[in-house]
Amino acid sequence: MNNIWIVDFGSQYTQLITRKSRELGYSSFIMTIDECFEKLEAGAKPRALILSGGPNSIFEDETNYSQIFDSNIPTLGICYGMQLIANYFDGVVERGLQGEYGHARVQAVNGHEIPGIKSSINTWMSHFDHVKEVPQGFVTTLKSDNGLIAGIENKEKKIMGLQFHPEVEHTEHGKDILRHFFHDVANLEENWSNEIMLEVCTKEVEAVKGSKVLCAFSGGVDSLVAATIAHRVLGQDVYCFFVDNGLLRPQDYTHIETLQKETDLNIEVIDAKELFYSKLAGVSDPEKKRKAIGVTFIEVFEKKVHEFEKEQGIKFDYLLQGTLYPDVIESISPHKKGGKSVTIKSHHNVGGLPERMKLKLLEPLKLLFKDEVRQLGEAVQLKHHWVHRHPFPGPGIGVRILGEVSPQAVKKVQDSDQILFEELHGQSLYEACWQAFTVLLPVKTVGVKGDARAYEEVICIRIVNSTDGMTATWTDLPHEFLAKASARITNEVAGITRVVYDITSKPPGTIEWE
Ligand code: XMP
Repeated sequence: MNNIWIVDFGSQYTQLITRKSRELGYSSFIMTIDECFEKLEAGAKPRALILSGGPNSIFEDETNYSQIFDSNIPTLGICYGMQLIANYFDGVVERGLQGEYGHARVQAVNGHEIPGIKSSINTWMSHFDHVKEVPQGFVTTLKSDNGLIAGIENKEKKIMGLQFHPEVEHTEHGKDILRHFFHDVANLEENWSNEIMLEVCTKEVEAVKGSKVLCAFSGGVDSLVAATIAHRVLGQDVYCFFVDNGLLRPQDYTHIETLQKETDLNIEVIDAKELFYSKLAGVSDPEKKRKAIGVTFIEVFEKKVHEFEKEQGIKFDYLLQGTLYPDVIESISPHKKGGKSVTIKSHHNVGGLPERMKLKLLEPLKLLFKDEVRQLGEAVQLKHHWVHRHPFPGPGIGVRILGEVSPQAVKKVQDSDQILFEELHGQSLYEACWQAFTVLLPVKTVGVKGDARAYEEVICIRIVNSTDGMTATWTDLPHEFLAKASARITNEVAGITRVVYDITSKPPGTIEWE
């Protein structure tokens, strides 16, 4: 596929460039400068290049960029990228003593306005060095209010440079400016769609045709979409094992039953409730609980797989995982000559499973963002509410019971969670929140139930909004909703007399309580 390559020089906004370009309908992938050089040397050529911003100064960068700038590829340089362009084509870049951060107004230069964009716009800047003189053949397209060059262009070479960040929401018309680059400067046709996403993911699976694929299925969005796509290509060679650790909510059980009935997936449930409860007895430290749950999961899963392999006379080759693009391009470090600047990290949600079981990884969604996975899920006929489920952590209710986990405590959280879930759906609020759940607090408080004094435990309702779980804000839901959920929980859940609402954002709190 012909793509836009986004060369990452370590900007905190690089992922946003990819997201914005895909939202505009143009396929793009992030790579390091070394990967870019390797690909060009191997004869590949992108449809366009975007050189990202970065924390370094071009005065410390001795890389020879001729391979990029002499190959007639339409190029957009953002911040650091613009300075590389100016420097390469013999303009003058000046070392900045004082950085410029935050909002800055820029004005279009007469005769070089970007079509459809106002002559004066608010932008987001974050830089030290700046372009003092444009190179020969280039013109200044935008100037900031303090007289600095904020945009340059060479129409003939199809090269554009911007000192500010068009990918950031704070930049007015940022998306229009990117569209102008893709559509008018680079003359690209839109090519990112559900079909292309499906093609990208399907290709990953096709590469392992003939293999037996194992999936630690959770029923969450990522594992469901990954398993569905794998199943479309490999059919019955994909086996989904769902471990019932006894720490699930009522909605999780009904969801799995529905998927067993309504999809062609091969889903087997392994009931390991009692084993998990026995391993958790007497454990109240959060980290020890997490560890116990993780270790027990591997033990149960491994045993099941060995038994299954023996019974069926097969051997699994791959472990299917719903790893997403942000997990792959997790942390971005400054460009260093000769070294890879992007740290690649694969999330192993199932602990040390692949290493222990000598399984290779199959990660068909690894080039997609979460919202794209949802979109793709619907495109392959999965129901809307299946692919818009809230995230649910692997250790489940285990980290929502503070202190020791017991079947009685699990029941309290299950019952209160069910009420919360019913009320969110009943009042059409489920999709207005990113994650919603209840937590059992290990304190007893005095209350009155009927005519009697009660001395019972507390349920906390936690509802947050977020885009990726890294930061979150508590959700301010209507009081009628909170009042109804609270009344139902205290009336219907045995052992609970008090309900509190968590109004902590992340940071400083985390989303889960443990
Ligand atoms: P925190 O509590 O770290 O949670 O703010 C951020 C997001 O991650 C989920 N989470 C987990 N997911 N295994 C998972 O699969 C875990 O051990 C785990 N711990 C937290 C949490 O539910 C929230 O969406």
